Amino acid sequence: MNSVSISLEGHAYEVLVGAGASASAGDLTAGRDRVAVLADQRVVALHGPLLKAAPTLEVLAGESLKTLEGLGRVLEFCATSGLSRGSVLAAYGGGTVGDLGGLAAALYKRGIAVLQVPTTLLAQVDASVGGKTAINLASGKNLAGSFHHPAAVLCDTRLLETLDDAELRSGLGEVIKTAIIGGEEALELVERRLDRLCQRDPAALAEVVEVCVRVKARIVAADPEERGSRRVLNLGHTFAHAIELAAGFGRVPHGVAVAVGLSLAARAAERSSGAPAALTARTLRALDRAGLPSSLADLREAYSLQGELSPQALLHGLRHDKKGVVGAPEFVLARREGDVIMGVHLDENLLTDLLG
Ligand SMILES: NC(=O)c1ccc[n+]([C@@H]2O[C@H](COP(=O)([O-])OP(=O)(O)OC[C@H]3O[C@@H](n4cnc5c(N)ncnc54)[C@H](O)[C@@H]3O)[C@@H](O)[C@H]2O)c1
Ligand SMILES: [Zn+2]
Repeated sequence: MNSVSISLEGHAYEVLVGAGASASAGDLTAGRDRVAVLADQRVVALHGPLLKAAPTLEVLAGESLKTLEGLGRVLEFCATSGLSRGSVLAAYGGGTVGDLGGLAAALYKRGIAVLQVPTTLLAQVDASVGGKTAINLASGKNLAGSFHHPAAVLCDTRLLETLDDAELRSGLGEVIKTAIIGGEEALELVERRLDRLCQRDPAALAEVVEVCVRVKARIVAADPEERGSRRVLNLGHTFAHAIELAAGFGRVPHGVAVAVGLSLAARAAERSSGAPAALTARTLRALDRAGLPSSLADLREAYSLQGELSPQALLHGLRHDKKGVVGAPEFVLARREGDVIMGVHLDENLLTDLLG
């Protein structure tokens, strides 16, 4: 088992990565007065409960879980389980369970500890590390939330063996993103392991999850509350959010939208910021090998979204990105492996060209 430390001012925590990591949940919570578990019912059905003796609220994973109503249910569950300020709530599931459990723990009795036990590739490499928690509002995704760093994170790569293909691939989109941000060494490792990752090889998964967590840990430690430099993690995401908005939320899985976002960001970086063509080729090739679309044309075809993803609809989506000022979208682009720039404005002609 490997461990990555996340060091924040006033709070440090460990991320354990490896096959069987979730078995440490018992030891890690032993010192707490009480423990309760918020769990994805599918994960419990496939892998058994996280902690046999702890009260467990089983929920159906998905965006529909991340609502005010869902939050209320988890808070009531904390109360009826008798949790105190010295207790811990464990979140055992993918990113939706982690986001909801994290926010409930941030609010219950003004904040109790949360143990994150992410069970999807996306949640292991991205959502569970970094302390962001949120629910959705009718007006948009992740609009109500808080920063609440976990007491620990257990990335059990054995749990990933039951992910369906679409979920695995969606996670690989974020893996490739993280590797480009991380730099040459991280990207080379992901490239070398890509075929084995697609086959859910446990050793390759453990190795790559650890590398991604290390990259994210470094970035989060430098900017725990996303005031500046942490935004590099949004590489490809301005395009991805516009795709998700234009397609209608839920039509294109997030990691798939990120994949196309990475391909567009690579082309944009080459034409606006002097990124080498070799980096674009490398990005597209990794996406292809992961079974992800590497262009808008591929995506439109694969999801039958010709009309929804028209250049006009995407431009409209870009102008409404929540991260930029309305009308002037800001992009995060990689100039080289590991060299990412933020707040880039792209010329209208270039954008029209890219979205064609
Ligand atoms: N907080 C953050 O920093 C952050 C970062 C990225 C994404 N997110 C959030 O994460 C969410 C997406 O996460 P997700 O993709 O994990 O979604 P999810 O929780 O909906 O899980 C996806 C699917 O996989 C299933 N599943 C989970 N673990 C499984 C396993 N081991 N085997 C088989 N099936 C399993 C679930 O039941 C569900 O059907 C979004 O809501 C997004 O906003 C948060
Ligand atoms: Zn993302």
